[in-house]
Amino acid sequence: MTTLLLTHPQMPGPVAAAMRSLDSTLPVACSLDEVAPEAVRCLVAYRLHPGLLPRLPRLSLLCAASSGVDKLLAMPDLPPRLPVVRVVDPLQSAQIGQYVLGHAIAHVRGHALYREQQARAQWLRHAPPAFGSCRATVLGLGQVGAPVARMLVAAGFAVTGWSRTPHALEGLACCHGADGLAAALGTADVVVCTLPLTPSTEGLLDAERLGLMPNGALLINVGRGELVDDAALWTLLRQGRLGGAVVDVHRQEPLAPDAPAWQVPCLTLTPHIASQPSPTAIARSVVAALQQQRDSLPLQNQVIRERGY
Ligand SMILES: NC(=O)c1ccc[n+]([C@@H]2O[C@H](COP(=O)([O-])OP(=O)(O)OC[C@H]3O[C@@H](n4cnc5c(N)ncnc54)[C@H](OP(=O)(O)O)[C@@H]3O)[C@@H](O)[C@H]2O)c1
Repeated sequence: MTTLLLTHPQMPGPVAAAMRSLDSTLPVACSLDEVAPEAVRCLVAYRLHPGLLPRLPRLSLLCAASSGVDKLLAMPDLPPRLPVVRVVDPLQSAQIGQYVLGHAIAHVRGHALYREQQARAQWLRHAPPAFGSCRATVLGLGQVGAPVARMLVAAGFAVTGWSRTPHALEGLACCHGADGLAAALGTADVVVCTLPLTPSTEGLLDAERLGLMPNGALLINVGRGELVDDAALWTLLRQGRLGGAVVDVHRQEPLAPDAPAWQVPCLTLTPHIASQPSPTAIARSVVAALQQQRDSLPLQNQVIRERGY
């Protein structure tokens, strides 16, 4: 029974090689041309074309080639009981932490202002904020959010974390629910969104909630583009109400050359690169899930489909 790798935009070849180095007995195919559909037992993918899943009658495992699973769960033809697992990789979370920390520190230390001054050959010193005085709010305290929050704490931010269920994490204030969200947004110099895209988080950062952020604050979105109301964000940036936004994830990827987002002032756009799971991390996730399923053990990183993450 074969594992079919449809990992685009990741190349399947390195994932196949990493899987073979972990377990040389596992049959792996890198395209549907290489395998009979009825031989496919496990499918590894980031996104899928409609109509593929019904063609795989013996599929018993779907492995996301990423930590986000929104595109797979949105497939209308996803069999209702098919187990879905995702990549959980501490190195990937650390990479996102580097991305967030770089932008958060640049914001509170006024890097953009000093670049402007340099362009004018202007020697002008501004007092840096007192260590510990800058506040960050991290939305989502999962595999990405919790390490990101800890890295912000280590860099001297006073951090509040927000999640769906109550959490207690050393070194930061934790809150949950709608009231917690309003308070956490209203006091943050930097808001970092690490939420998954689900029916309850889609459009969460709308005009009203973005409007709660203090003047001059920075939004960093590494979750999914659909979490934020783009038009509302761009209005606040054009008005100079927010100090900036850093957006790594977009409703349409790749972002079209004529997309209006490129022209919005104080908006930093990156092409979904805050982190990427390595071929080895994907392979480890798939091989572990196959072994757990073979041994009738609980799947370690199984997505709870009813809650959407
Ligand atoms: N930009 C990138 O390169 C990149 C890379 C990796 C991941 N991502 C994105 O990051 C997302 C999160 O990944 P993860 O591994 O951290 O997921 P995770 O471990 O499942 O954590 C999700 C967190 O979001 C919280 N949450 C979910 N729904 C919520 C709601 N309605 N209200 C409040 N909190 C809610 C959860 O709360 P509870 O703890 O209470 O359940 C949990 O803390 C992924 O889905 C993906 O979209 C982006």
